[in-house]
Amino acid sequence: MYRTHNCGELRLEHAGQEVTLSGWVQISRDFGGLKFIDLRDRYGITQLVFDTEDNPTLGHEARKLGREFVVQVSGKVRERTSKNPNRDTGDIEIEVTDLKILNASKVPPFTIEDDTDGGDDLRMKYRYLDLRRTPIQENIIFRSKVGIETRKYLADEGFLEIETPCLIKSTPEGARDFVVPSRMNPGQFYALPQSPQTFKQILMVAGMDKYFQIVKCFRDEDLRADRQPEFTQIDCEMAFVTREDILNTFEGLTKHLFKAALDVSLPDFPRMSYDEALQRYGSDKPDLRFGMEFVELNDVAKGKGFPVFDAAELVVGICAEGQAGEYSNKDIKNLTEWMQRPQIGAKGLVYVKFEADGSIKSSVGKFYSEEELQSWGEKFGAKKGDMLLILSGETEKTRKQLNELRLEMGRRMGLMTPGVFKPLWVLDFPLLEWDEDSERFHAMHHPFTAPKLEDVAKMMDGDHETMKSLRADAYDLVINGSEIGGGSIRIHDRALQEKNFKLLGFTEEQAEYQFGFLMGAFEYGAPPHGGIAFGFDRLCAIMSGQQSIRDFIAFPKNNQGKDMMIEAPSLIDEGQLKELNIKLTV
Ligand code: AMO
Repeated sequence: MYRTHNCGELRLEHAGQEVTLSGWVQISRDFGGLKFIDLRDRYGITQLVFDTEDNPTLGHEARKLGREFVVQVSGKVRERTSKNPNRDTGDIEIEVTDLKILNASKVPPFTIEDDTDGGDDLRMKYRYLDLRRTPIQENIIFRSKVGIETRKYLADEGFLEIETPCLIKSTPEGARDFVVPSRMNPGQFYALPQSPQTFKQILMVAGMDKYFQIVKCFRDEDLRADRQPEFTQIDCEMAFVTREDILNTFEGLTKHLFKAALDVSLPDFPRMSYDEALQRYGSDKPDLRFGMEFVELNDVAKGKGFPVFDAAELVVGICAEGQAGEYSNKDIKNLTEWMQRPQIGAKGLVYVKFEADGSIKSSVGKFYSEEELQSWGEKFGAKKGDMLLILSGETEKTRKQLNELRLEMGRRMGLMTPGVFKPLWVLDFPLLEWDEDSERFHAMHHPFTAPKLEDVAKMMDGDHETMKSLRADAYDLVINGSEIGGGSIRIHDRALQEKNFKLLGFTEEQAEYQFGFLMGAFEYGAPPHGGIAFGFDRLCAIMSGQQSIRDFIAFPKNNQGKDMMIEAPSLIDEGQLKELNIKLTV
């Protein structure tokens, strides 16, 4: 038997018991005739003591132990003289009488501690060592818990867990596909699923009624902190449902997960239309942990002789509470330059400071009287000490820029409070987005999303301009400014699906070639249906108060899409290429 207990288990009540533990050597210290070792496993750390003077043979063995050696020890549990209140096992230690080295370890390339000295790529190359560190291990344990609770909740709601294939035909979710050559069908390729979208719809046609799957999705897109080329969805679909049914079911799931995994009770989720979200926050995924809502100033700021505002489609600002005294002219200049970086592209930034002494200072003071600036302040509910930050220009662009500024001010002012969770349903997205460059429509969500019921007739018969105004029966779940999930009611009628493909620029032949199977299925009694998919990695990260999903994935890819441990992607040999009928040109 390797162990009677794990390394996180022993307490004062075990004092006097003979125990056996196995684990990794975290650290060792010598004190005269005593050697102390911290022994670590997934469950915790237990202190071992070796009396090297009384037992020189044991002492000799113990001196061989280096960091990350794997050992088995037996001995008696005893109360510690100096206790460690920060550790669950901190009241006791093991007086070791037997030591067996199960395996030696090279000196690890970085420290296996909460704050390690290892850089990103090194940690990824030795991922098995990185995964031994408590913060990463806690993330993986948390993820497992959220996964298990998801299964419990959905099973209780009558969902079936059904697997869908990984070798499929392209499913457009807006990214590039990863492709896999077929040896048996020369020149032909499978695509890895960007999501199981079409399969889950087919399962509804097949009468499965409620489907879910915790499933890998693959998207060849540029990577960011909250994106991986290979990520996991909690993917769901239901038949005979309205939007309301879906929102209720998945609000229920989210509340359950927060309660079960974090003991946080979430109140009912507010809802907001896409248009309202853009108007009030400049984003379809607003962070509601803080206010700083947009206030539009067109009626008071235009027509007073300030040419920049006069020429603008929109003048809009936010009020940064208590910041007037915090921002010198130099700070404002720096903030303006931050806004002017190409990533944001603002032309300028106007401020109005309501100083603590009652005076008003503004970069546009010569165009507006003090009373006028005061009336702007009233629109924001500004008090003494507050500062307005105002942008102007073309509506959509200006809102986007002000969203960046709002988030930056939220960060600087410490308003993104950890441990606070603000979920939100964003509803009524546009169905189609017009792209000026390619002169065509794109699906805002994906091509299978239904228009709102009241827009169906318009979609079938309307002109080009009408198409821009169509609303989708689509919804996103946003938590703390992060898009956690998205879904929609689907088209389940062949004619409407054909029309959508046409609007998206597919010829009849292309639509048939790519999605004939789905439209064919619609002709055999497809029920009304809809669904949603949560980004599982993102959900775990946000629940843990983190932005990056990488350390919630056991084996993630780096920013170049590489797995540093197994060194993938990699070259394949000539024989394999030949078998696949592939000739490399690089
Ligand atoms: P969507 O494309 O919105 O919808 O994806 C659903 C959720 O998946 C997460 N997500 C990602 N997470 C990590 N890395 C990525 N590269 C990545 N891309 C997306 C997001 C997102 O909200 N088939 C539809 C769902 C449906 O309509 O039911 C779909 O895939 O959190």
